[in-house]
Amino acid sequence: MGYQILNGKYTIPNLPAAYADKMAQTLKIVLADERCGVRVTLLYGVLEECDIITRSVKIENTGTRKLYLEKVSSSCLDFLYGNYDMISFYGRHTMERNVQRHKILHGRQAVGSIRGASSHQYNPFMILAEHTATEQTGECYGAAFVYSGNFSAEIEKDQFDQIRFVMGLSEEQFSYSLSAGEVFYAPEVVLSYSGEGIAHLSHNFHYFARKHICRGKYKDKPRPVLLNSWEACYFDFDGEKIVALAEQAAEFGVELLVLDDGWFGQRDDDNSSLGDWEVNERKLGCSLRELSERVHQKGVLFGIWIEPEMVSEDSNLYRSHPDWALQIPGKKPVRARNQLVLDFSNPEVVEYILEKISDILRQGEVDYVKWDMNRSLTDIYSANAKEQGAVSYHYMLGVYHLLESLTARFPDILWEGCCGGGGRFDLGMLYYTPQIWCSDNTDALDRVRIQYGTSFGYPLSAMGAHISAVPNHQTGRSTDLNTRGVVAMTGAFGYELDFGKLCEREKKEIREQIAIYHKIAPLLNGKYYRISDPFAEEYGAWMVVDPEKKKALLSIVMLNIHGNMPVIYVRLFGLDPTKNYCESISKDIYSGEALMAGGFPVALRAGDYQAYQIMFEEVNAGE
Ligand code: DGJ
Repeated sequence: MGYQILNGKYTIPNLPAAYADKMAQTLKIVLADERCGVRVTLLYGVLEECDIITRSVKIENTGTRKLYLEKVSSSCLDFLYGNYDMISFYGRHTMERNVQRHKILHGRQAVGSIRGASSHQYNPFMILAEHTATEQTGECYGAAFVYSGNFSAEIEKDQFDQIRFVMGLSEEQFSYSLSAGEVFYAPEVVLSYSGEGIAHLSHNFHYFARKHICRGKYKDKPRPVLLNSWEACYFDFDGEKIVALAEQAAEFGVELLVLDDGWFGQRDDDNSSLGDWEVNERKLGCSLRELSERVHQKGVLFGIWIEPEMVSEDSNLYRSHPDWALQIPGKKPVRARNQLVLDFSNPEVVEYILEKISDILRQGEVDYVKWDMNRSLTDIYSANAKEQGAVSYHYMLGVYHLLESLTARFPDILWEGCCGGGGRFDLGMLYYTPQIWCSDNTDALDRVRIQYGTSFGYPLSAMGAHISAVPNHQTGRSTDLNTRGVVAMTGAFGYELDFGKLCEREKKEIREQIAIYHKIAPLLNGKYYRISDPFAEEYGAWMVVDPEKKKALLSIVMLNIHGNMPVIYVRLFGLDPTKNYCESISKDIYSGEALMAGGFPVALRAGDYQAYQIMFEEVNAGE
């Protein structure tokens, strides 16, 4: 029917979407089917400064009869020629975002989620790269969904070898009724292109996510170093233990103590109390206000864990409102981690939880909240809904409404997303929570791979990364404290262990780690380069460079060791070839050109999983 070009970027009611000031423009293309009474407006947001185009679709029922939307996609890219690979990010709980790259074949290849969350299994981010494209060369296209629920990313190569790439809501469990005059907006897809390899494509997404998705006070700031109580003591704590952790945290220079699961209702294990957002003063031995004050008196910030979307059958909430859980009448519900999912498609449920959590956040002086979600949606039936076709979609709107309301009511709180670790690591969540717990797996070696996979689409500042105890609780593997530090420090850094159990050597090392982290934290918003592929090579290597190319941090973790190991030469990226850099360990001076063309020789130490953290700082002639 026509088009319009407008200054500024469109917004989408009730859904997270990129924001941009005057630097963006919007293209609207209007299509109409007069016979069916449908008007479709294709929305394009153009953020030229960061090489990003966003896509959404508005659908209006302009007729007189009810319509059913059975499939709504947000973006479609057609490749008329070319030989492309599909790069997707698959995984499982505690092993998220493995990288899979394969040639696009004839027929349909798709990934997606029908689990209610964007999922551990497939991330809503995908890359199409020329078959010969590398980190540094070749053309590639990326697409990320700004949505945290069911999605579908489909690629099809047709009879003429042309490729179509479509991303949007999953059509499974989706049938949205649109009455006359009503409007539906599809969640946003973010697209970017690089003609110079995959690293550049990642840089576009990193910058965009930090500047146009993440919000709030902590958006551009280094995040406080935290100590989380989960792997330190699980459910086994009282108020004194938490204050003791805070005292130890303060001694080491940790800035934030997070009280994880187990502080509410009667929750001493994972069988009960979700939904009962009342402080367990018997267990804490005091009120939340007193506890937060005592933690603050030790000189650290105070944070808590919540899981607002869930309900335990053994809870007062479930006993008084069994119809508030998603479950099919007459059928035994499927339980996961002994819990059910609240019906967040019902606004009454969301309003109730909003007031309960707000009350908690007003009771204590809370500086940080970790928002968890520990199971998939099953038995998707809402006792409140007139039609069941879009319950999972309305569930997500309820989650976003709660996130929007809480982040607006408590703007000074630092929010961290979590979904059994990295099961909802997407731009939709990052709009509300500028960091996300990357994985429940804190094993340093596995983390090298998980953080590598995550880095393709998401910035380092978004990746919650902690040092935990050894043997690691998920894998049983032991790695040096240094190795755990090298891996966790290129993320939103913290600890997740009992400081009371450390020996003097470890205590000293932790103090040093925190001092180092403060030095390198500002660098983490620089350009990030993947140097090796830890799924294919015997070491993981990555680096960050500041925008002025004055400083760079190189991190290396040996995944394997053999006899008579040769020196490895690690070629650096993103430096200024005309500058000279001093390397932090030997103090040797190298030119940027030598480091990038020849490589930095790493003399390897013997021992399992050794790690190296090396700074390069510009030196001026004569220094
Ligand atoms: C799963 C999270 O990922 C963990 O870090 C921890 O918060 C537990 N849930 C608590 O139940």
